[in-house]
Amino acid sequence: AQSSLVPTPPMGWNSWNHFFQHVTDADVRAAADAMVANGMRDAGYVYVNIDDGWQGTRRPDGTIQSNDRFPDMKTLADYVHTRGLKLGIYSSPGLKTCAKFEGSYGHEMQDAKTYAAWGIDYLKYDLCSFGDKLTVAGNGDQAAPAAFAAQQEAYRKMHDALVAAGRPIVFSLCQYGMSNVWEWGPEVGGNLWRTTGDISDKYDRMALIGFSQAGLSRYAGPGHWNDPDMLEVGNGGMTLDEYRTHMSLWAILAAPLLAGNDLRHMKPEHLAILENKDAIAIDQDSLGKQGDRVSALGPYELWTKPMSHGRTAIALFNRGELAHTMRVNLRELGISPGAHIRNVWANADLPFSDIINPIIPKHGVVLLLVTR
Ligand code: DGJ
Repeated sequence: AQSSLVPTPPMGWNSWNHFFQHVTDADVRAAADAMVANGMRDAGYVYVNIDDGWQGTRRPDGTIQSNDRFPDMKTLADYVHTRGLKLGIYSSPGLKTCAKFEGSYGHEMQDAKTYAAWGIDYLKYDLCSFGDKLTVAGNGDQAAPAAFAAQQEAYRKMHDALVAAGRPIVFSLCQYGMSNVWEWGPEVGGNLWRTTGDISDKYDRMALIGFSQAGLSRYAGPGHWNDPDMLEVGNGGMTLDEYRTHMSLWAILAAPLLAGNDLRHMKPEHLAILENKDAIAIDQDSLGKQGDRVSALGPYELWTKPMSHGRTAIALFNRGELAHTMRVNLRELGISPGAHIRNVWANADLPFSDIINPIIPKHGVVLLLVTR
C-alpha cells in the first residue's frame, strides 16, 4: 500500500453528494476554483474527487474514455494541479458502476495506466455490480465466503495495477462496510475503506452512521483509515448544530474530510464549520489515532481522541430532542488543573474545573481541545 500518501486522513471535495452522476468538467473546475478562493485548499482540503458519472465507452482496444461531460481528463488534471490541488477519480471492480457506467472489470491494468497518464491522484473503487454478480448481501451483512474472497481479490488486483502503473494514487475501497472490511482493507492495499452504507443530508442518517463507528478505532492509523462516508455540511438538510455534530464526530473519528456540497454557493456559516482550525487539527493530528466512545447515558455520549503532544479532544454529544446539561468530570478523563481547554465551536477558552456542566443543544455538541 502507498501508505505514505495519507499520513493523516485525506481531505478534499467529492462530487457525489451534491451533483450525483450528473457532474461535469465545469463543476469540477468550479469546485477547484472555489477551494482556492474560499480558503479551503489552504485549510488542507486538497483532493478534488470526481465520483460516478464521468465514464464514456471503451475504445476498440479497451481503453476507457470519459463521456462528453468531460472533454479531456488530462487537461482537467492539469487545471486542478496548477491550482495546487489533486484530482481523484472513481470506478468499480464490476462490469458496471452503481449508476450503470462502465466499470473496470477485466480492464484493471489498462485503467490504472490510463489514470496514471491523465495525472490522477486518488481512486475510489466502488463494489457496485461486482457484488450483484456474487450475490453479496446488503449493507452491513457478511458476504458468503466465496464472494468475500472474490471481493478481496478484486480490490487487490486494482491496487497492484495502480502500483505497477507507477504513479502514487490513493486507493479508497468502497464496499459499504460489509465483511468487516476494516480487518482486511490494509492487506488488499486500501488507504481507506468505507465502513458504512451511504450518508444522506439528514441528521438521523448522519448520526446513525457516525455514532455506529464506536469500537473501530484500533483499525485506523497513518496510511489506513476508516471511512464513514463523505461530509454533507452545507447541503442544507441539517441545522448548524447538526452540521457541527457531523464535523466534530468526523474529526474525533479521524475520518476523511471530503466536503460534498456545491462550493460555489456556500453560506459563510457552513464554510466556517468546514474551515474550523481546531476541528481540522483534531481530525488531522499526526498521532493518527481514531477516537472512540467513552460512555453513553441514553442519548448523551462522551467521546475522546488521543492526540500528539499529550493533547486530547473531548466531544460531548446530545443525540436527544431537547437541550441538556451534561455533567463531565474532567479529572476522571485525566485532565488536571493547568490544562488549557479550548471550547472549539464557542471559539473561547474554558477555565479548568473538575466538573464541567455545559448545556448542549438538541442534536448538538461541545467539542473541547485540551492541551496539558
Ligand atoms: C455508492 C457509494 O457508496 C457512493 O458514495 C457513490 O460513490 C455511489 N455509489 C456512486 O454510484
